[in-house]
Amino acid sequence: MKIAVIGCGYVGLVTGACLANDGHHVVCIDNQKEKIDILLNNKIPIYEPGLEDIISNNLINGKLSFELNIDNAASNAEVIFIAVGTPTDEETGNADLTQIYNCTRELAGVLKENALVIVKSTVPVGTCDEIENILNEKNKHQNFKVLSNPEFLREGNAIYDFENPDRIIIGSDEDNIRDVVKEIYKGRKNEQKIVFTSRRSSELIKYASNSMLAMRIIFINEIADLCERVGADITDVAKGIGLDKRIGPYFLEPGPGFGGSCFPKDARALIESGKKYGAPQTLLESVIKGNESRKKNLSKKISEILDIPSENKIGVLGVTFKAETDDMREAPSLSILPDLTNIGLNISVYDPAGMEEATKLIKNVKWVENSYEVANDASCIIILTDWQEFKDLDLNKIKNAMKRPLIYDFRNIYNPDNMKKLGFEYYSVGRG
Ligand SMILES: NC(=O)c1ccc[n+]([C@@H]2O[C@H](COP(=O)([O-])OP(=O)(O)OC[C@H]3O[C@@H](n4cnc5c(N)ncnc54)[C@H](O)[C@@H]3O)[C@@H](O)[C@H]2O)c1
Repeated sequence: MKIAVIGCGYVGLVTGACLANDGHHVVCIDNQKEKIDILLNNKIPIYEPGLEDIISNNLINGKLSFELNIDNAASNAEVIFIAVGTPTDEETGNADLTQIYNCTRELAGVLKENALVIVKSTVPVGTCDEIENILNEKNKHQNFKVLSNPEFLREGNAIYDFENPDRIIIGSDEDNIRDVVKEIYKGRKNEQKIVFTSRRSSELIKYASNSMLAMRIIFINEIADLCERVGADITDVAKGIGLDKRIGPYFLEPGPGFGGSCFPKDARALIESGKKYGAPQTLLESVIKGNESRKKNLSKKISEILDIPSENKIGVLGVTFKAETDDMREAPSLSILPDLTNIGLNISVYDPAGMEEATKLIKNVKWVENSYEVANDASCIIILTDWQEFKDLDLNKIKNAMKRPLIYDFRNIYNPDNMKKLGFEYYSVGRG
């Protein structure tokens, strides 16, 4: 099948690469020339484990190509995926659909007969209707179809998630596209888990899923705070809760608050949809408030407990919104690091994948090459993401390098008893 994917970000690149790997002919399009240049040079513009190899193999075998212009690339495609960004509109809290409508306008007029336009981007209810209207106005063939097919992959596990989806949601009001969609996704392990819904239900499923996960995170964070006050242990509490089949064990890990390109923006957009249609999402409103105040209070929490003189050096491990990605969007580090530098602390920072992007966003800190450099002469180390490489550190070496062996671990990556034995002053989340 001839497929075009618009948007070479985390979702578009993974979608394009995996479909090319299945044997489809895929062209991935992005209007950022730097991105296309990097891709044509056999490199990738993002960090995503496993992706570079798949892209490289499929470039070589001719199944995958990259283009700057939609009209060149999309006019031959039977299927066009839209995977452009839908960031928060900072003024309204709504999803900013500029990228969606811009690329739709570019697409209008070049669609081939019977083309399927599949919207992978996360978009508010009714957006596919609007896309269809724009295409209807401008395209010479009127027999194209617009479907909603939200993506659920997690950065850092994106290839696995794309190959092994829990479900594939297809929102379409047309029955006769089912075979085509099955053909596109035929290589997937859970092929049988294709769920056909209306377009509007499909659009809403994505927002409701992300918002539900965000809600669980804020819930467990608040229970963790209570654990700290009453001397309970969140690890045991979460295990006890999660063994209930009705609840399940996932997304019950406390931390510094959620960030990333999806949860905050999708929860905000759902709140705005609720307002627009007169169905207030009050629970989500408090989730967003709770999360924002958690991120704001991180530095306060550290300075209250640790009483570190401002001239001291501290170290930070991890700045991206989670491990195994270079994505800095809405990362907790963007709140905590400026607050700590404002106190006047000297801060050394290391991240395995995010430093290139982070250096553009976080100023007045020293970027170093590894965790041991972070530890050098530090009076405290703060852990903000749970990379395996942090879990595997030689903690004796870390302790010996530090001025004061004090760790504030916002991801609970170490065992508190072990840390005590090793001679650390160790603080974590919700563990007494
Ligand atoms: N990142 C995730 O983990 C994830 C997971 C599931 C769903 N989503 C959703 O998928 C969508 C894409 O997310 P992302 O993280 O891949 O975004 P991204 O910002 O990483 O990538 C979007 C890309 O689209 C390109 N683009 C924008 N307008 C264009 C145009 N007119 N023509 C060609 N290219 C254009 C941009 O240059 C950019 O490279 C969003 O709606 C997001 O909510 C993201």
